[in-house]
Amino acid sequence: MASTAVESKLSNLSINDDLLASAPNLRNNLSLLSSKQIDLAKMLLEMNQSHLFKHWPDPGVDDDKKLAFFEQVNRLDGSYPGGLASYIQTAKGLLADSKAGKNPFDGFTPSVPSGEVLTFGEDNFIQFEEAGVKEAQNAAFVLVAGGLGERLGYNGIKVALPSESTTDTCFLQRYIESILALQEASYRSTQGESKRDIPFVIMTSDDTHSRTLELLETNNYFGMKSKQVHLLKQEKVACLDDNDARLAVDSQNAFTIQTKPHGHGDVHALLYSSGLLKEWHDAGLRWVLFFQDTNGLLFKAIPASLGVSATKKYHVNSLAVPRKAKEAIGGITKLTHSDGRTMVINVEYNQLDPLLRASGYPDGDVNDETGFSPFPGNINQLILELGPYIEELTKTKGAIKEFVNPKYKDSTKTAFKSSTRLECMMQDYPKTLPPSARVGFTVMDAWLAYAPVKNNPEDAAKVPKGNPYHSATSGEMAIYKANSLVLRKAGVKVDDPVSQVFNGQEVEVWPRVTWKPDWALTFAEIKNKVSGKCSISQKSTMVINGRNIFVEDLSLDGALVIGCIDDAEVKVGGSVQNKGWAIENVDFKDALEPEKVRIRGFKIKKIEQLEKNFNEPGKFSLKP
Ligand code: UTP
Repeated sequence: MASTAVESKLSNLSINDDLLASAPNLRNNLSLLSSKQIDLAKMLLEMNQSHLFKHWPDPGVDDDKKLAFFEQVNRLDGSYPGGLASYIQTAKGLLADSKAGKNPFDGFTPSVPSGEVLTFGEDNFIQFEEAGVKEAQNAAFVLVAGGLGERLGYNGIKVALPSESTTDTCFLQRYIESILALQEASYRSTQGESKRDIPFVIMTSDDTHSRTLELLETNNYFGMKSKQVHLLKQEKVACLDDNDARLAVDSQNAFTIQTKPHGHGDVHALLYSSGLLKEWHDAGLRWVLFFQDTNGLLFKAIPASLGVSATKKYHVNSLAVPRKAKEAIGGITKLTHSDGRTMVINVEYNQLDPLLRASGYPDGDVNDETGFSPFPGNINQLILELGPYIEELTKTKGAIKEFVNPKYKDSTKTAFKSSTRLECMMQDYPKTLPPSARVGFTVMDAWLAYAPVKNNPEDAAKVPKGNPYHSATSGEMAIYKANSLVLRKAGVKVDDPVSQVFNGQEVEVWPRVTWKPDWALTFAEIKNKVSGKCSISQKSTMVINGRNIFVEDLSLDGALVIGCIDDAEVKVGGSVQNKGWAIENVDFKDALEPEKVRIRGFKIKKIEQLEKNFNEPGKFSLKP
């Protein structure tokens, strides 16, 4: 483009000479750029980002890279609510606050919010479960699965990991089968005229998207209709090099801005911009349930907590577990500002204790008469009421209050050890809600509701005694424990566990009891399917695959694997005794074993079992 044409393009776009003077190399290349790209360039210069063009050679050299640079800028601009300028502006403010050591909770006084504390199997628990199952057909589920899982260090995606190795059911399969079972149970409970397919959204990222899609496609969506599943991919955000929020250039490619994940808070903006929320609202849905990638227990807590949301009319319901004072898990806290603002929010454990001390509680966070802190532990599974959620997102466009966590080189806080970025968390959604919003929580025992797989074996082995490992080992053992305790509560005599060490972690080993979610989702269903005098020895394995399997007067000392089609009904009882399935230790470093085995430190050796599948319609009995 002739220089006069460039000048006229510039004057049309009102990019002024002073701005361009800060980036002479950009000026030389303006002829390569479209009007839209010049607009973006102007925005970058206005936001003090002229360093991005410092190394740009004259036109004719690396032009494709220059255009690729603007494609990336365009993406970063388009995927952030308010655009890249807004991102940089917010970053400047948050970096200044961080440098000044400003406490985000200044002026707030903490108190215990109100919520529901449930005990598994009690009457109100059963009632909430019943209410929750009824509501499930008005719900949509959202799994946030864009995280890298650096702490776990697994080479695959986390949702592809087996939740337990007795049946090798991966987390994604467990989740989908649970949603489908809820869909059926909800339909049956309301005797609805038409069955609604519960929508299931998975938030992915560049790190997980293609492998999540492949896992779904190669497994026929684990029985779910493919149109029921929506994948929404989150984008990364630009990294920041200094307190002036100058964008960081990639060390490998000077035409690329360094990016990092923005956090699971992105889910709100993505849902909002996808149009799905409106679609669900128009279809009469009422609830959106958010959950994470590796909690094999979660669906044991879903029916009752959804029942709490519906009964208590909570706009926001955070699932929580009892938390020891000062335990390293965020506490759900009501914060009241001196100016009258209030919010019920997750406060990280290292902020909660000082906040309490500064607010007239000299001992900080301490256990009460229950032996636990009055501030319940947030497990980051949220139930939002759709109507108020849409109302709020219409105002915020899904933007969530962000934070920045730079690692400074020294106490002057003038330089970073490495680039940083803004992050946001999905549980910070209530921060912008008006005081009239009904924000509560539902507490359930951790053995029932929470056993995530986040830590690699080496780090898990270093966890101080008494604290949860949150490893693949503990995540699997927690499933057996929960199933065993649930059966105990239903009247089955289940032997005590033994203590064993795998990958340096001492865990309780209960009988390996597993069932498909459609066998029983609620305690009432379990009680309905287990009767008479039943017992299960510690060395036993029991796998139930089939909706209409009734366990009656069963004495199990070995392995029993039983399945049936939906049109069959099977009574299983009598004495089942065989050598069963043993648990064998595996060394984490044993290269001959697959990673999914090494990561948990054991494998199941199938020695002897009674296995029977009923694939014809009819009534059957299995009584060895
Ligand atoms: P985690 O706290 O487990 O983080 O995320 P992570 O990134 O997966 O793992 P680390 O910290 O690197 O070890 C909690 C949930 O949020 C999702 C994760 O997939 C997990 O389900 N997540 C996290 C996202 O969807 N996007 C993100 O940017 C970060």
